[in-house]
Amino acid sequence: MNPTASQLEWFESDHARARLEALDAQSLPQHIAIIMDGNGRWARAKGKPRLFGHKAGVKSVREMIASCVELGTGYLTIYSFSSENWTRPEEEVSGIMKLFVEVLSREVVNLNKQNVRVKLIGDLDDLPQSTREAFDNCVASTAENTGLTLVVALNYGARQDLVHATEAIAADIKAGSLTPEDITAQLISDRLSTAGIPDPDFLIRTSGETRLSNFLLYETAYTELYFTDILWPDFGRDQLLDALLSFQTRDRRYGGL
Ligand code: IPE
Ligand code: IPE
Ligand code: MG
Repeated sequence: MNPTASQLEWFESDHARARLEALDAQSLPQHIAIIMDGNGRWARAKGKPRLFGHKAGVKSVREMIASCVELGTGYLTIYSFSSENWTRPEEEVSGIMKLFVEVLSREVVNLNKQNVRVKLIGDLDDLPQSTREAFDNCVASTAENTGLTLVVALNYGARQDLVHATEAIAADIKAGSLTPEDITAQLISDRLSTAGIPDPDFLIRTSGETRLSNFLLYETAYTELYFTDILWPDFGRDQLLDALLSFQTRDRRYGGL
C-alpha cells in the first residue's frame, strides 16, 4: 500500500514500514478478532505476579486500537475475560476487574479522540458493579462515534451465547411469534450477542496456544486463524503487520474452488 503520512508516523519502525508497503490496502480484514493470551507467562518469566502481566497487556490493546484506526479496520474484537476465567484465584480476578475500571476511566477520552465506538459482548450481570458502570459509561460516551468499532468480549463464552440465543428463539416459538421453519443460520446470527457485526475475517491468538477457548464459535466458521508464540504484552504494531501479511497469503475458498 501507499502509506499516508499519519500511517508512517504511527508505524514508525523500519520493520513496520517495510511491511506496510508490502500490504495490499484492498484486501485487509474488515473485522479482526484477538485472543489476547500469555499475560501470566509473560509476568512469570520476569518473576512478577500475574497481574503485572495483565497491566502490561493494556499497552498492546492500545497499540491494536491505534493500528486498526490507522488501517481503517471496521471492527476489532478483543477477548478480555472469558466465562471460564472466574475459576482463577480471587486475587487475580478482582485485580483484573479493578484494572478494567482504571483503564476505562483513563482511556475513554482517547477512544473518543480516535472516533472509536465501544460495544460489549458477554454476560454483564455477574460483573462487580464498578466494572459494569465503567463499561456502561464507556459504551454510552462513545456510542455516536463512527470510526472503528471496538467489541470487548467480557465474561463472554460462545456456548453460553448460543444457549441464550436458543432460549430466546424457543421462547418466541412458544409465544407464537416465530415458527420452527423460520430458523435459519442468519436468524441464529441475529440472536447472538454479535448480531449486526460481520463475522471476523481474521483471528489472532498469541502465546502459542492453538485453540479457541470458547471464543466466537459460531462466527468463526470461515475465519482465517493465526497463531503466534509471542506473549500478549510483546504483541505490538510490528507483530500485527506480520500477521496481516500472513492473512494476505490466504486463499479464502468458503468451500468452493
Ligand atoms: C490472557 O492471559 C488474559 C486473560 C485470560 C484475562 P493469561 O492470564 O491467560 O496468561 P497465561 O495464559 O496464563 O500466560
Ligand atoms: C482465553 O484465554 C481467554 C482470554 C484471552 C480472555 P485462557 O488463557 O483463559 O484460555 P485457556 O484456559 O488457555 O484455554
Ligand atoms: Mg491463558
